[in-house]
Amino acid sequence: MEKMLREIRERVMQNIEEARASQSLEQIRVGILGKKGELTSLLRGMGKLPPEERPKMGQLVNDVRQALEAKLEERAKELQEKEKQARLAAEAIDVTLPGPERGAGSLHPMNIALNKMVEIFVGMGYEVVDGPEVEYDHFNFELLNVPKNHPARDAQDTFYVEDNIVLRSQTSPVQARIMTTRKPPIRIISPGRVYRADEADATHSPVFHQMEGLVIDENITMGDLKGTLDEFARQMFGEGIRTRFRPSFFPFTEPSAEVDLTCANCRGEGCRMCKGTGWIEVLGAGMVNPHVLEMCGIDPNRYSGFAFGMGVERITLLKYNIPNLRYLYENDLRFLTQYR
Ligand code: PHE
Repeated sequence: MEKMLREIRERVMQNIEEARASQSLEQIRVGILGKKGELTSLLRGMGKLPPEERPKMGQLVNDVRQALEAKLEERAKELQEKEKQARLAAEAIDVTLPGPERGAGSLHPMNIALNKMVEIFVGMGYEVVDGPEVEYDHFNFELLNVPKNHPARDAQDTFYVEDNIVLRSQTSPVQARIMTTRKPPIRIISPGRVYRADEADATHSPVFHQMEGLVIDENITMGDLKGTLDEFARQMFGEGIRTRFRPSFFPFTEPSAEVDLTCANCRGEGCRMCKGTGWIEVLGAGMVNPHVLEMCGIDPNRYSGFAFGMGVERITLLKYNIPNLRYLYENDLRFLTQYR
């Protein structure tokens, strides 16, 4: 029996040493120390031994059991630690992996162009003022020398909210608002939205943007207007871009001009964008009609002034060589993020 015990002890020790997982240790433990385990059966079989041998054998079996239990425990600790390390390695998070990209926002190209336009005029001493988009007929037309039933009202297909209230068809009503509430000298610009009942196409939209300009003081001449717009063109589009004034008509300016800029695309050579002319029309302007000054309470014998209104979309398309107005309104990020 002693031999058997030694044999068991050696074999099980060996098995424990070779176990590769805590689970196999448990199997070994049950197999040797469990209810039906080898050692347990041996203990039960001791009844058959002569009484004088029993204490000694009992002692031996207990020694083996204690040794195996200790060994099991030691090995279990080792294996658990190993398993923990393996689990940690498997679950490790690679903190050096780049996270999901969060795109930074960017300004709309029209805002970039408008910011530049405003900056240029603020640099020349102009003040930025605002006006309402839902406007009285009185400011949008009447004070601008466009009386009721005047054909010029049809030329700008106006959205009417009520009989005397419109969605402003131009930023010019801001002129009237400023002239009726301030005394000269006046030097303002006013960018904002305007509305016209136009079908949307490559060059039209029922909602678009203008920037109005108004200067009133003593001795203001057409030369001041020309010089101002030339300087604007130079700063906005670079050296070599000039203005060209063509006679035109607006009820609230006299004389009036339609103003072209040297085509920034071909620098005046003539290309598709300027239809071969070398010039692109960008704004309307003129000397404030004395009758308008008078209606707004400014003495036309003492003061004179000029006004201009430019299309913000128009200037944006020119500045960035964008072929179609629609790109500005579609909010396609592939387009918008090209401009920073
Ligand atoms: N308001 C005019 C338009 O929308 C432009 C303009 C503004 C012309 C100021 C002259 C003076 O066409």
